[in-house]
Amino acid sequence: MKKALITGVTGQDGSFLSEFLLGKGYEVHGTIRRSSVDFRERIAHLEGDPNFHLHYADLGDSLSLMQVIGKVRPDEIYNLAAQSHVQVSFDSPEFTANVDATGVLRVLEAVRLCGLTDTCHIYQASTSELYGKVEEVPQNENTPFHPYSPYAVAKLYGHWIVKEYREAYNMFCCSGILFNHESERRGETFVTRKITLAAARIAQGKQDKLYLGNLSSLRDWGYAKDYVECMWLMLQNDHPEDFVIATGVQHSVRDFCYYAFKHVGIELEFIGEGAEEKGVIKGFNPEFSIVNSQLSIGDVLIEVSPDFFRPTDVVNLWGDPSKARKQLGWNPQKTTFEELVKIMVESDMAKVAVERASEHISTNLVEYLEKGIVK
Ligand code: NAP
Ligand code: GDD
Repeated sequence: MKKALITGVTGQDGSFLSEFLLGKGYEVHGTIRRSSVDFRERIAHLEGDPNFHLHYADLGDSLSLMQVIGKVRPDEIYNLAAQSHVQVSFDSPEFTANVDATGVLRVLEAVRLCGLTDTCHIYQASTSELYGKVEEVPQNENTPFHPYSPYAVAKLYGHWIVKEYREAYNMFCCSGILFNHESERRGETFVTRKITLAAARIAQGKQDKLYLGNLSSLRDWGYAKDYVECMWLMLQNDHPEDFVIATGVQHSVRDFCYYAFKHVGIELEFIGEGAEEKGVIKGFNPEFSIVNSQLSIGDVLIEVSPDFFRPTDVVNLWGDPSKARKQLGWNPQKTTFEELVKIMVESDMAKVAVERASEHISTNLVEYLEKGIVK
């Protein structure tokens, strides 16, 4: 039975990759960090699987990495752990560098020091943010890098140190240059999930407005569940090579809003420009039963807030996945943009409905307790 170690197993990609590898018959090991609150929501359904094991380790702590890698002796390592939020990297640049740059070095060195140089295949989570202030559109494996945030600069080190270890020690280590990929498990402060949650809350009367930053920013958004397959394919390849993983289709943040609200039955139009731009209700789709009957045509649902502008913003990411399609046989269009938005909106509509139902139950319960109906 093959053994895989996933750093960052509690994250969006780590949870999908765990499911994928368990489905392929792997023994899956994941690293977790101690937290004062429950943080394992995305992998809770896997705990109890006899082939799924968790270990404490931190990318800032070489000894913990040595311990887990030495104990598990994995055939494959997927280094997904990172401070992954670009805006947060401006507030915590040193922490981001320690985890996203030096952390990669720590994993590579731990593999070497544990005597796994010749046997262990390593996947590094590189990013389209490396293209940053883009020098070419669309971007492929030969496009020059121009990182444009503390996050991207740290990830650039990770990318190059992997290449260095591949060449210096002949290790099977490679980087997937992944463009944005989203899902119903996406962190709630990334723009797509922020939008789908807001659309669900607004439709169900739990939120009035959505405040966003740059609406014109362009991204190549894919579905995380499809992308983890490509991580695995890269480690089954004959040679360690880097690949761009993307859909090849680009949309703006504004487009994402339009389709997300469309899937709750609200047609939006955008009026005004720059910081004055607003997303306004243009109409309703009668096929959707919108719970929030307070909404009317002309209501402003989206406004721009400077709180979400970045000191430097990456605004034109568009990937060319030709190499992955040809060499790995990977299908970049398995889930289309509209399907992705729909998956996310439907999941958030259900989540908000459950929250409303439990609020309703607890409100009634308080009333019944007060009246002495329930003791
Ligand atoms: P995510 O949901 O933010 O998950 C990040 C994971 O890293 C979490 O499990 C987190 O653990 C863990 N982590 C953070 N700091 C750590 C540390 N010091 N030591 C050990 N673990 C630590 O990110 P994701 O979207 O799944 O992305 C996975 C990887 O792909 C990241 O490296 C990200 O930078 C990269 N990437 C993502 C995208 C994308 O669009 N999603 C695109 C390109 C590249 P806690 O749960 O304990 O915080
Ligand atoms: N988060 C956020 N919140 N972004 C906003 C908002 C907002 O309210 N309004 C506009 N945006 C814009 C950002 O300025 C950015 O241009 C774009 O939406 C996408 O932002 P995020 O969803 O935060 O993702 P990201 O592209 O910065 O980073 C993600 O993708 C990278 C791959 O390109 C992360 O997953 C990174 O870890 C990953 O490397």
